[in-house]
Amino acid sequence: EETKSWKKMVNIAVSGAAGMIANHLLFKLAAGEVLGPDQPIALKLLGSERSLQALEGVAMELEDSLFPLLREVKIGINPYELFEDAEWALLIGAKPRGPGMERAGLLDINGQIFAEQGKALNAVASRNVKVIVVGNPCNTNALICLKNAPSIPAKNFHALTRLDENRAKCQLALKAGVFYDKVSNMTIWGNHSTTQVPDFLNARINGLPVKEIIKDHKWLEEGFTETIQKRGGLLIKKWGRSSAASTAVSIVDAMKSLVTPTPEGDWFSSGVYTNGNPYGIAEDIVFSMPCRSKGDGDYELVKDVIFDDYLRKRIAKTEQELLAEKKCVAHLTGEGIAFCD
Ligand code: LMR
Repeated sequence: EETKSWKKMVNIAVSGAAGMIANHLLFKLAAGEVLGPDQPIALKLLGSERSLQALEGVAMELEDSLFPLLREVKIGINPYELFEDAEWALLIGAKPRGPGMERAGLLDINGQIFAEQGKALNAVASRNVKVIVVGNPCNTNALICLKNAPSIPAKNFHALTRLDENRAKCQLALKAGVFYDKVSNMTIWGNHSTTQVPDFLNARINGLPVKEIIKDHKWLEEGFTETIQKRGGLLIKKWGRSSAASTAVSIVDAMKSLVTPTPEGDWFSSGVYTNGNPYGIAEDIVFSMPCRSKGDGDYELVKDVIFDDYLRKRIAKTEQELLAEKKCVAHLTGEGIAFCD
């Protein structure tokens, strides 16, 4: 006898669904780790022509897992079919960078994908869809995507910087000799690139400013900051491919942060549209900033953060980089002729 009352099914579209990140992510989604044990889901898996057979394999494994919450698995290569009525679009599919490359080196190759997917979302997704862009360079890809989806609020688009936030929390915890969960208020500012700014001025350890706990401020400014900026690159060097499992975990974290009320006094980082931001950051780019959510899928920017010269300077640098990336994709955002430095 069915006594449990189920919620209405939620469509989750995932691109790059035959890839490594998705392979970690999909089984977490299907197990209810993200939206909860009473939320049935449909997975709409977008692949490429090249990956379609692998995608069939992924669908087979999902089916064979008998997840009680997984009510439908659909695969294909047409975003206009797969994104239909999507409440979530997790845009992972893109060419990843290899050893020695910067993420911006992928601008041209990947930008096109996100323009097309933005158009598809605009045409068929739920007007309430939350989009998380993972494929790099994710901030500018998210900008391209939202510009091509004018009937979906720009606020609904995120570039994933949660992995950077998690990396920063880990390094601060290790240095301070505390467990990860003692580190809070961790902002990543700016681009998911080597100019990103892990903010140790506003972050807290055991509720106290990091600088009071970690007295080696030179380490914070140099060693720590660089470690976070270059963590993705170092991992590529070690593995020979980019991070997958930890990225999937951070996508789960990013989604959960939007559907769970943010704990009192804390916040999370996400790359979001800058219009109306209270920090004086240039408008009309996607920039990682501190956010809070009521748990309704939406967020607001945190107002009570402080700045010093160091932080301002660093933020200006990552802002410059994003403005340059934006110029370089003007042809994909409908803003004229591209100009790349
Ligand atoms: C990461 O940060 O690990 C990913 O963005 C992959 C990369 O290119 O570094």
